[in-house]
Amino acid sequence: MEEVLGSERIKELLEQYVPKKREIVMHEYKGVIFPLGVFKPSVLQALETWEARPEDVFVVSYAKAGTTWLQEVVSAIANGGDLEKLNKTHTYFRVPFIEATSFFQGSDIPETYEIVDKMKSPRTIKSHLPGHLLPPDVFKKKARIVYVARNPKDMCVSYYYYHTMHQALPTPKSWNDFFEDFYTGKITFGPWWEHYLFYWNLRHEPNVLFVKFEDMKKDLKAVVERVTEFMNYTLTDDVINGIVDHCSFESMKKNPMTNPDSLRDRIRKQLDQQAKKEEDDTLVEPKQEKISFMRKGKVGDWRNHFTVAQNEAFDAFVQEKLAGSGLAFDY
Ligand code: A3P
Repeated sequence: MEEVLGSERIKELLEQYVPKKREIVMHEYKGVIFPLGVFKPSVLQALETWEARPEDVFVVSYAKAGTTWLQEVVSAIANGGDLEKLNKTHTYFRVPFIEATSFFQGSDIPETYEIVDKMKSPRTIKSHLPGHLLPPDVFKKKARIVYVARNPKDMCVSYYYYHTMHQALPTPKSWNDFFEDFYTGKITFGPWWEHYLFYWNLRHEPNVLFVKFEDMKKDLKAVVERVTEFMNYTLTDDVINGIVDHCSFESMKKNPMTNPDSLRDRIRKQLDQQAKKEEDDTLVEPKQEKISFMRKGKVGDWRNHFTVAQNEAFDAFVQEKLAGSGLAFDY
């Protein structure tokens, strides 16, 4: 992707590109809600016949489950722990988000999946798609899938803040409103429990590895070792330790090549400049600017947000939805 984005033609297009305020319009595709500006029906449809490769490694998750963190782990392994190489290109380009329309929209700029088509193997690819929307060829070719899940209470809090800061997502009226939507699954990427269970039920397949955010917090090295083995790489202990340091919350937050804020700031700057030029401040959606993507990175922040009643209701709901599955979380 880096090569394609780095091509002269794309550079030329990016220079000409005038960012526009994205209207937040939601659409439903096969039972799942998406914001139209980023996840187009045409792309979701194209992915139904998109060709995977057996050597692909997919990082799949529900939003805010620790995707970026796992992307960095997978990318570091795929690059043999060469941190110097990793730090030359942002994670966003090393592990592209296949169903998303590029940040760098423009009429001639290819969709992300078309850019992925041109990447050399082994490709590392991110997706938030629920199982029934992930390209079927991924399963047919038995490409590797590393799935990360997080306890849904912290995921809900993280997703709430993300909605307050992301230009393409509708700003929630209040925490209580968002909590209700999350609970009922009426949000981008749909019901989290269906997402989880689809991949959880595949966890014994040799091409699927299911990891949990809380385990990464508890012992990142053990998870890096599991993922390394799953990806069929052999790395020395020193290299593994280097990856663990590189992927700590503090390192990823201060590294512009792993912190998604650096890309967001670039888009925002373009929008601000355009708004000034056109003297049109409606180009910039009012969003929380002070919240970092790398917000807290902790287990248990839900305790600062859930009321006692919300917690009781949510516990009963989780129990009902995950009953008999064997899937459980540390909170
Ligand atoms: P918080 O909002 O709770 O801080 P995703 O990448 O799926 O959108 O998930 C984002 C969440 O993962 C955010 O959670 C973010 O801080 C956390 N995260 C990202 N990198 C992390 C890391 N290296 N260590 C711990 N948490 C991390």
